[in-house]
Amino acid sequence: MLAWKMPPRVEPLVQLSSADTIDHYKIRKLSVSMGLLTHLSLLITDLDHTLVGNDGSLDLLNQVLDRYRQTIGTKIVYATGRSRESYQDLITTQRLLVPDVLIAAVGTEIYFDAAETLDSAWVDELSHNWCREEVVTIASRFADLESQPQSEQRPFKVSYYLSPNVAAAVVIQLQELFAQQGLDVEVIYSGGRDLDILPRGGDKGTAVQFLRDRWQIDPAQSVVCGDSGNDISLFKYGSERGIIVGNAQSELRLWHELHPVNHHYLAVADYAAGILEGLQYFKFVE
Ligand code: GLC
Ligand code: MG
Repeated sequence: MLAWKMPPRVEPLVQLSSADTIDHYKIRKLSVSMGLLTHLSLLITDLDHTLVGNDGSLDLLNQVLDRYRQTIGTKIVYATGRSRESYQDLITTQRLLVPDVLIAAVGTEIYFDAAETLDSAWVDELSHNWCREEVVTIASRFADLESQPQSEQRPFKVSYYLSPNVAAAVVIQLQELFAQQGLDVEVIYSGGRDLDILPRGGDKGTAVQFLRDRWQIDPAQSVVCGDSGNDISLFKYGSERGIIVGNAQSELRLWHELHPVNHHYLAVADYAAGILEGLQYFKFVE
């Protein structure tokens, strides 16, 4: 179960001098041209239990990513199940780099830079075939579904807590009822606790493809990282390099076992140390 304890605040990152930056840039450029390293254009990571979970390794990874961002312009995207409000709570207790884009609410919300408003093109995409009230009405027939707090109920996301003992049966029944009513939705169960219902194509993975199309970034130079059920879509659609952290939940491990591909890597190390291990495995970092 997800009894997650907030790690204490870590010390500020080391600031790079311009000499460090130039040296690092030259070494990297040479290594990339010799085929020893791959250019890291884009890193997309889940937050809870993937990037966040161990303050020491988070600090180390932050330093690496900050350096890459300064020298080669790597873009950093967080793809979280949290609402933007809940993400803002997290950043008061965790030392996180400011992302280029925040994908929130399991993919259903995309915020560019410091913009507080939802990306309207993404909202249009999701609005086509979604009727929130009908979804809530159907879900309310299930006594086992316990509503999550109001802050996590979003325009394109309806969320509950559900015991793992009954989860498989409830998910199947829900999917059947939605299909009977002609509602094209995704039902996602994560971490033995959280059940999210989203419009189909409103998940983290589709949000990432939307960004990739907009930025025209080569998937071979992009990495996605995750630990649980709501991250499966990150690995499912594109051909980005994928890192599953060592502490991943059973649903993501099982999915990985059933869909083995060379561009996905199951790390031994947990949390941010697992991401770093994967970045080394794919030769994005030395
Ligand atoms: C985050 C969200 C929650 C969601 C869960 C799994 O914890 O706050 O609403 O159910 O992620 O996606
Ligand atoms: Mg997670």
